[in-house]
Formats: sequence, C-alpha cells, structure tokens
Amino acid sequence: MSRNLLITGGAGFIGSHVVRLFVNTYPDYRIFNLDALTYAGNLENLRDVEDAPNYRFIKCDITDEVSINRVFVENGIDAVIHLAAESHVDRSIMDPLGFVKTNILGTAVLLNAARISWKDRKDGLFYHVSTDEVFGSLGETGFFTEDTPYDPRSPYSASKASSDHLVKAYHHTYKLPVVISNCSNNYGSHQFPEKLIPLMIHNIRHSKPLPVYGEGLNVRDWLWVEDHARAIDVIFHHGENGETYNVGGFNEWKNIDLIHVLCRIMDQRLGRPEGESAKLITYVKDRAGHDLRYAIDASRIERELGWKPSLQFEEGLEKTVDWYLSNEEWIAHITSGSYQEYYQHQYVTR
Ligand code: NAD
Ligand code: TYD
Repeated sequence: MSRNLLITGGAGFIGSHVVRLFVNTYPDYRIFNLDALTYAGNLENLRDVEDAPNYRFIKCDITDEVSINRVFVENGIDAVIHLAAESHVDRSIMDPLGFVKTNILGTAVLLNAARISWKDRKDGLFYHVSTDEVFGSLGETGFFTEDTPYDPRSPYSASKASSDHLVKAYHHTYKLPVVISNCSNNYGSHQFPEKLIPLMIHNIRHSKPLPVYGEGLNVRDWLWVEDHARAIDVIFHHGENGETYNVGGFNEWKNIDLIHVLCRIMDQRLGRPEGESAKLITYVKDRAGHDLRYAIDASRIERELGWKPSLQFEEGLEKTVDWYLSNEEWIAHITSGSYQEYYQHQYVTR
C-alpha cells in the first residue's frame, strides 16, 4: 500500500536515520520530512537522500496549528511518524516551558490535524516515538515493561509522558489509529554533541574535560540508532493498533564504565598512550533529579514482531567514534554559535 507519510523531526538525530531508511526502502511512499530546524535539526544529516523523488522537506513548527492542518490537507497525509521534540534532559531543566510547548502542544496539534483530516478513515496511522524515561527511575534491579506505570521525573520525561497520554486519549476517544514505542538511549552517527556519547567523543578529541555527573554510577541501556530505526519500520508496518512497544538494547552500562571504554577506543584511534584520555575525566555537580537507572525489557517486540538489536556495543561505539572522527566539518558546523554559549555555564566541578 502506498503512503503519504509525514515524518516529523526528520532533520534530527533519530529522525534522519528513519527518513533515510524509509526513503531508501519504500520508493512508492511519498515521504514528507517536517522539521522546524531548531539547534538540533540539520539538513546536512540528509544530503544523501535530499534529491530522491519520493522525498520532500517542509520547514514548519509543529505548534503552528494553521500550517500543520494545511500540510495534512494539501499533501493527503495518511500516516505520521512523530519524532519532533525537544529531547535533552539538561535543557528541559533550564527551560521547562519550551518542552511543554513543543512536546505537549505540538503533539496535540498533530493529533488534531490527523483527527480532522482523517475523519472516519480506518487506514490512517499516527505513530508516536517516545522514550523509556516516561517510566521513571529503576533501582538496582528490574526492567521497564509495557505495563510499568508512568512515573516521569524530569520536565523532559513529563512532557513525553503527557504526549503519550494524549496519543492514547485520541485513540480511545476518537478511535484514531495509533501506535507508540518507548525506547532506551540511542547512540550512533549524527547525534548532537550535548548527549553523553558524542559529547565525550568531542571533548576527548579536543583534550577538554569530560564532565561526569555525580559519581558516574547512573545506568543507561544503549541502543544503536539504526537498530531503533529498524524497530520503527517494523512497528509502523506490523504493530497492533492502540498498542505500545518497548524498544531497548539489553545493554546496560554505568556512565563511568562507558566513558572508560570510549577513552580506550579514542586513545587507540588518536595514537595516544593508553590511559591518556581518561585523565580528562572530571566529576561535576550532579544533574538535578538525576534518574538512577533505566533498563528496558524489549521481549515483546522480539516475540511478537521479530525485532532484536543487531550490533554488539563495542562494535557500535567504534563505528560511532570513527564517524565523528571522519566528519569534523559536521561537528565544526554544529558546535559553532549557540553551542559555545550553552556549554559556558554548564558545569560546577565537585
Ligand atoms: P533531536 O533533538 O536530535 O531532534 C529533534 C528534531 O525535532 C530536530 O530536528 C528539531 O529541529 C525538531 N524539532 C524540535 N522542535 C520542533 C518543533 N517545534 N517543530 C518541528 N520540529 C521540531 O532528537 P532525537 O534524539 O533524534 O529524538 C527524536 C525523538 O525520539 C524525540 O521525540 C525523543 O523524545 C525520542 N527519543 C529519543 C531517544 C534518544 O536517545 N535520543 C530515545 C528514545 C526516544
Ligand atoms: P544523556 O545523554 O543526556 O541522556 P539521558 O539523560 O536522556 O539518559 O545522559 C546519559 C547519562 O549520562 C545520564 O545519566 C547523564 C550522564 N551525563 C554525564 O554524566 N555527563 C554529561 O555531560 C552528560 C550530557 C550526561
């Protein structure tokens, strides 16, 4: 079946991998990448597909109700994969209202446009790409499943939880066809260097301090971004209407252990003596309300839809490091301007 598919946030990190996968895999779909190009959006991420006949970029803010309604009608949009969001926890602590606006209001505007333009049609699909952070924080043991109650703790996770609830409300109230996935931490190429892995690679490369929040003992479950894009493809095509799917890497790491692995890979790549990069590790004041541990039980998507992660973590980290080291122009562009201001005020050394 052919689709007029709207992908929001396609100029961002995960969105660009999703757009690339869909443009290359589904030549019969008309794929519209709608993005406001905030600091996190970058069309350089999509140079390799921008001339494809089944691809079009639309610059638009998802909170702009009039323009969003027009995009749906003019292009006969019949499916949405919604990724556009403010996505960084530290920024949500500094500017919670910006997150409320984009993540909650923006999602509501998109849902409403779908509701109005699809009316009673049964073949539409609104897919919301969400996070495991909606489930809150785990102790030393246990996993988030699809049935774990929501318990968000940061302005970011609370805004994503709110948007998940709106998606579910539109399904129950208006019978809008929806699916949601809640995924763990992604890593890979094209990630903005404010998130842990690309920030550490960038700072090691330039011999700058590596800011470790608190004791570095917080745990995250890391997934290769291209595996996430594959999961989105599988859920989009085979997920059950009204259902949610957890997506994760079965790959838990304490931050400090992960940083040591990155330091070792970077020492090798940069020809530095072993242990040189780790000397840059600097413990800084902890993030406010820092969630201790996230861990996803991704057995449902494996059991029901046959998806599982493909890549071993060390291999994925090496590929990621190599991508950043061979794309210095991309980094230089991204880290010019407001990036410098953002990092000037960030850290208090412990
Ligand atoms: P990102 O910050 O790299 O990209 C977000 C994109 O959304 C950017 O291209 C930006 O320009 C666009 N955008 C922001 N506000 C917009 C607005 N008002 N209107 C239109 N476009 C706007 O984010 P990401 O890491 O690629 O995450 C994508 C989605 O996946 C988000 O919804 C996020 O919550 C979710 N998610 C991310 C992770 C992760 O580890 N990064 C894990 C699970 C879920
Ligand atoms: P991050 O990449 O911001 O993802 P999230 O907070 O959404 O999980 O952070 C991953 C982990 O790394 C988290 O426990 C916070 C920690 N962290 C640092 O210790 N130093 C840093 O500079 C950053 C950005 C994160």
